[in-house]
Amino acid sequence: MANVVVVGSQWGDEGKGKIVDWLSERADVVVRFQGGHNAGHTLVIDGVSYKLSLLPSGVVRAGKLAIIGNGVVLDPHALIAEIDRLAEQGVKVTPDSLRIADNAALILSLHRRLDGLRENAAAPGAKIGTTQRGIGPAYEDKVGRRAIRVMDLAEWETLPGKIDRLLVHHNALLKGLGEKEVTPEEILAELEDVRERVVPYCDTVWALLEKRRRAGDRILFEGAQGALLDIDHGTYPYVTSSNTVAGQAATGSGLGPSAIDYVLGITKAYTTRVGEGPFPTEDDGEVGNFLGERGREFGTVTGRKRRCGWFDAALVRQTVKVSGINGIALTKLDVLDGLKEIKVCVGYELDGERLSFLPAGAAAQTRLTPVYETMPGWAGSTAGARSWAELPAEAVKYVRRIEELIEAPVAMLSTSPERVDTILVRDPFQD
Ligand code: IMP
Repeated sequence: MANVVVVGSQWGDEGKGKIVDWLSERADVVVRFQGGHNAGHTLVIDGVSYKLSLLPSGVVRAGKLAIIGNGVVLDPHALIAEIDRLAEQGVKVTPDSLRIADNAALILSLHRRLDGLRENAAAPGAKIGTTQRGIGPAYEDKVGRRAIRVMDLAEWETLPGKIDRLLVHHNALLKGLGEKEVTPEEILAELEDVRERVVPYCDTVWALLEKRRRAGDRILFEGAQGALLDIDHGTYPYVTSSNTVAGQAATGSGLGPSAIDYVLGITKAYTTRVGEGPFPTEDDGEVGNFLGERGREFGTVTGRKRRCGWFDAALVRQTVKVSGINGIALTKLDVLDGLKEIKVCVGYELDGERLSFLPAGAAAQTRLTPVYETMPGWAGSTAGARSWAELPAEAVKYVRRIEELIEAPVAMLSTSPERVDTILVRDPFQD
């Protein structure tokens, strides 16, 4: 029985929502394994739209088990707000349909505060452009071995010592920034608020996943963000604070990598990025505006306008390797409809040298000159196509060229936000 990991292969916002929803219908268990409520997507099911940022997509489908793995940083207030929002829409999330890893680290209000303080204090070139959800500071505490974790809500008597350890660190930081320090009572009150609502979801997720795997259930690992925002493999320091590549599905859930059968990389037919940082094919002129408007490129979580540019095959080839992507789901091809010509970045030039991949340093990444290949656009429409035969010949050529350049086949092709407007080449769950 196949288990599938879905990851973004660019800077996030590749259109994972629709594909994950399509796949979650075929899965028994849907697992989030990194990130937090910095992610965001809208699912449209039977005409009703659901906004999710922390909960796995499976949660809106009856009979699926949704799991938040240990690799996620969990804001308990955001969790409860999302559960309550869904309840208003008639979707009941219960401890039978959602389990949360007892060893996942919590995001507290002090993390959000610190995220905001740092971003606001940073000089223009030093800003990361975070979502200000406290993601970075929460992961720092986890790695610093002072995080409060989900299980601590059930071990109330152990909390004061843990809070003291946390505050030794944070109050020194806040003092240094000239900010008001936090008291242990404030943290306790904040946790007391959510304790009763969160504890019933708490579970030994690694063991639960192993049991479901052995029972032959299909497990879908739902990645958030994209490979270029990965803390190790992304455009550091302009990245998120988790590993977003496919390997994290194992570490962030507790199911070993041998249980993963297929990695699907979601890839947009052009490139976008939100937040700061290098973006070799960025176009802030006519092409970028066209892509942004036609593609409705605004962030789901923060509403920020996304930066846009041509497809960067060198970048995606790199992330195909780093994530071990078996096949891609190519999204938003229809946004390119009507363009006379389309450019694809096939590599870079740096100081007279040709590079086929992104160098690791931000300074070099900023100085890259993309090398483009120009292809003819197509006059017809790809919007809503459900078979290759419905696509203009030039659109098929564009897709084939992308496959060649990134060294991975297209498994799915999405031609509109509607779930039915999908050309399926290979079902990732197929054994
Ligand atoms: P953080 O994850 O809030 O710390 O933000 C770090 C960087 O990741 C910023 O550039 C954000 O814009 C970006 N980022 C975080 N989540 C997403 C996402 O879901 N889609 C796209 N970019 C994201």
